[in-house]
Amino acid sequence: MSDKSVKKNVREFYDRVGWQLTGDELYQNAQYEDLRPVSKEYIHRCHMRVNRHIAPEGRYLLDAGSGPVQYPEYVTYSEGYHARVCMDISIVALREARKRLGDHGLYVVADVARLPFKSEVFDGIVSLHTIHHVPTEDKIPAYEGLYRTLAPGRKMVVVNGWTRSPLMLRLARFMNLMKRLHDWWIRKIKHQEPEVSLETETRSPKTRAAEKDAEIPSGTYVQKHDAEWLTNTLKGRMAYQILVWRSVSVNFLRSVIYPEWGGRFWLKVIYWFEERFPRYLGRVGQYPLLVVSKPLNDRQSLDEPSKV
Ligand SMILES: C[S@@+](CC[C@H](N)C(=O)[O-])C[C@H]1O[C@@H](n2cnc3c(N)ncnc32)[C@H](O)[C@@H]1O
Repeated sequence: MSDKSVKKNVREFYDRVGWQLTGDELYQNAQYEDLRPVSKEYIHRCHMRVNRHIAPEGRYLLDAGSGPVQYPEYVTYSEGYHARVCMDISIVALREARKRLGDHGLYVVADVARLPFKSEVFDGIVSLHTIHHVPTEDKIPAYEGLYRTLAPGRKMVVVNGWTRSPLMLRLARFMNLMKRLHDWWIRKIKHQEPEVSLETETRSPKTRAAEKDAEIPSGTYVQKHDAEWLTNTLKGRMAYQILVWRSVSVNFLRSVIYPEWGGRFWLKVIYWFEERFPRYLGRVGQYPLLVVSKPLNDRQSLDEPSKV
């Protein structure tokens, strides 16, 4: 697929499917998140990690691939800013974002790999789950464009999942076992039928496996990479650090974490480990949080990942 048709495909997907509201006032896209009460606190705390790195206040915050700013935590990122620039390839996303942010937002339809902004104009930048939709040849322009528009002395946060998380791969059998055990327990002890997820009902096992792996809605183009690729790509271009956003996948949460089996407690344990070992779990876990720091002085060495 050409670069143009990839982007058309992604845009049409989000316009027609991803950012359409489903019956329960959630976007279709939210079906790929674990929204169960048992995981709520953990997911909330992971979302809030972004705030630790971007400047709490400033003139403009860029949200590159903002979508509709779908979770309340996302709104907090720009609370101390004069305005949040929501940029997305999907106009439906931006119309929805406007409903949430109103005049606090500025809304720009654009491609993250070709940013139509002046250099060094943003005091903070976030880009969540967006660059994975960009073809490989556009990923460097996307990272470089974001860096170019970041003001000196400021930071940006980029979150995308790894292609394969070594940790999740190691735990694949455990996840499978836990899911079977829980289904058995529900049937034999609780005399109920285990919940069947939407994915299980509507798509082929092959498609489901691929989607589970990538953790993305079907129908969209996704090209993820691993930690080695990102390290090699950013080395010498910008000062960065890879930390953890969330070490476990949605598949892990749905297979292993259950309210009646101490789920909340286990998520507190996982969160504790993430706080204790953010660099290690950022590399091996499912979702890294990339923090890029732009020095005040451009001559700062970029050869080594900096302390950000
Ligand atoms: C998975 S959603 C994430 C939305 C939001 N950041 C979030 O975390 O909920 C990906 C978003 O990126 C947008 N997107 C995909 N490719 C893009 C591109 N090349 N330029 C700008 N936005 C893009 C999509 O339209 C969609 O709104």
